[in-house]
Amino acid sequence: MAAIYPSLISADLLNLEHVLHELNPHVPGYHLDIMDSHFVPNLTWGPAFIDAIARKTHRQLWVHLMVTNPLPWCEILQLPANSIFSFHVESEGNIARIIKKIKEKKWIPSITINPQTAIEKVLPSLEILNHVLLMSVEPGFSGQEFIPSTVEKLKRLNGYRQTSGLTFTIGIDGGINKNNIKNLTDAGANHIAAASAIFNDNNIIDSFKELKEAL
Ligand code: DX5
Ligand code: ZN
Repeated sequence: MAAIYPSLISADLLNLEHVLHELNPHVPGYHLDIMDSHFVPNLTWGPAFIDAIARKTHRQLWVHLMVTNPLPWCEILQLPANSIFSFHVESEGNIARIIKKIKEKKWIPSITINPQTAIEKVLPSLEILNHVLLMSVEPGFSGQEFIPSTVEKLKRLNGYRQTSGLTFTIGIDGGINKNNIKNLTDAGANHIAAASAIFNDNNIIDSFKELKEAL
């Protein structure tokens, strides 16, 4: 069964402790978007905020770094072991070095690709990591429309997974809602990040459950 991770960017941030308290019993973990206002035209959280979240949940953290230079972030973030650490193939730095550093920290390395980037760009990395995140919107903002061509990309990646015998997990992020989620999990997605589909509703538990029921 696929796992749905609420993306906290759209949560009620001044009441985040309450949000986490409500969601903790229901969710596998949380998707945390880190943006540097350079790699993407938006700015979110730094280490202090991520640490504060880690203190309020024992659920898995799935950090999604949208920054120009990911390597220094491996040093400044203090995530629990087994956190997923997604960095972009389009960002700077040596991919093998970044993956090595993430593994030293006992996190799960995950390589992320933008809608315009071909999956061929990440295939070589799948020998040394086992998590890929496909962006289904241009990174930077929640509340955007799902880009339909992602489904074809997902199917091709899933096909490669079957023929290669590799056992990587596929995540999808952006524009996912109760109407398109099943199509994505049927096409091979295992981890779903969703912000507006959960938080643009007064009852976040109900909307999380509705998404889950749509699987
Ligand atoms: C976009 C972020 C997404 C975003 C998803 O740059 O990476 O994680 O929070 O938001 P929705 O689900 O509203 O598209
Ligand atoms: Zn994200």
